[in-house]
Amino acid sequence: MTERTSMHGQWSSRLAFILAATGSAVGLGNIWKFPYITGEYGGGAFVLVYLACVVAIGLPVMIAEVLIGRRGRQSPINTMRCLAKEAGRSRVWSLLGWTGVLAGFLILSYYSVIAGWAMAYVFKAGSGVLQGLDGAAVGSVFSALVSDPVQLVFWHSLFMLMTGLVIARGVQSGLERAVRVLMPALFALLLVLLGYALTSGGVARGFDFLFSPDLSKLSTGAILTAMGHAFFTLSLGMGAIMMYGSYLPQDASIAKTSLVIAGLDTLVALLAGMVIFPIVFANGLEPGAGPGLIFQTLPIAFGQMPWGGFFGTLFFLLLVFAAWSSAISLIEPAVAWLVENHDMGRARATLLVALSTWFLGLASVLSFSDWAFDFSFLGAQKENGIFDILDLLTSNFMLPLGGLAMALFATWVMRRADVVEELAMGDGAGFRGWYYLARYVTPVGLVFIFLNGLGLL
Ligand code: PFF
Repeated sequence: MTERTSMHGQWSSRLAFILAATGSAVGLGNIWKFPYITGEYGGGAFVLVYLACVVAIGLPVMIAEVLIGRRGRQSPINTMRCLAKEAGRSRVWSLLGWTGVLAGFLILSYYSVIAGWAMAYVFKAGSGVLQGLDGAAVGSVFSALVSDPVQLVFWHSLFMLMTGLVIARGVQSGLERAVRVLMPALFALLLVLLGYALTSGGVARGFDFLFSPDLSKLSTGAILTAMGHAFFTLSLGMGAIMMYGSYLPQDASIAKTSLVIAGLDTLVALLAGMVIFPIVFANGLEPGAGPGLIFQTLPIAFGQMPWGGFFGTLFFLLLVFAAWSSAISLIEPAVAWLVENHDMGRARATLLVALSTWFLGLASVLSFSDWAFDFSFLGAQKENGIFDILDLLTSNFMLPLGGLAMALFATWVMRRADVVEELAMGDGAGFRGWYYLARYVTPVGLVFIFLNGLGLL
């Protein structure tokens, strides 16, 4: 076939794609969400299921998503329509692009609020108010922040503005350069924190919590959440990675690249867990404290270590950056579609999407104060109303269903010869292994976890 090119540009190299996709994958999901849901769902067994889902479900879906994106070279909505037509199938497949755009919008609305917390902490750490505080005092600093909607709206707005500015100017140029420097810096800082955690006196209990699976603790809700998190953390199932795949040069190996991205992402999450849980246990804190977990633990470490004010500021700054490089990928599919189909400039398209996302984000802001309400979901107690609902709906349902559709599309709908050509790894054992996984194992595993999670099995 004739090779398509994307009207939005192309990465300068395979490395640039790895950097951008890692920038998308590594974010609040690794450092904020992974530790807190691991804490809520009881530790080791949850981590084990999450790792298994990354390998058996996440990785095959990632390969499928990148390959679909590169073959279509448009926004996910138009890519799906175009490839379905190419395979002689119904245009209904473009629905997948639509649900992806919706998921990105819903996720970013609350993601920006949490990134706002991290921004607030850049200044708290910098001003020294966290120095020398014990667990209880750190906890009240956090409660004071989240119960103040005015502050939260301020930080949420600032984060959306920062994200919007980059999107409006086009994704590739700045992002590549920034990720190349800031990602390794974040990684190095996690190692510094690990050094502190190892001496905190909670290592044995912390690592035991994280790495000794007690399978009897594993609820069906925990399995569903672990699978959902594999999608969330790898940015899969909504078209973000498909969009980035559409900028990938034709000669880059999709399988190897995906392996690198998933490996780096998992490493960062495990590191974050290895930092947080020793601190939790050394200070008698509650592992199941919920979304505030890292904000109630890390400041204790920064308050006690030498140069803590400096390291604390830098850490939260890098966390904001990691969140920002993920946020960009969350709205890029919507912006690209508006540009392609509505003849809109990037700036106007961005303004439209960012403003509506910002507005919905207000519901998450209030979920931690005036609008907070409790409910229980598959055995887990949730306290933060709309924020929790948006998170559960997107991570546990929309992303996995999107991923399922992508795996099915790449292996049942697209012509096998086209897929072989696009992956460009020959038709040997490697290709067949992936094809078999994505065609049978991933879909069956996914559907099984769904039905099981919903109590239908
Ligand atoms: N992967 C990001 C994180 O772990 O923070 C969040 C995310 C980005 C999810 C992009 C989904 C997505 F499409």
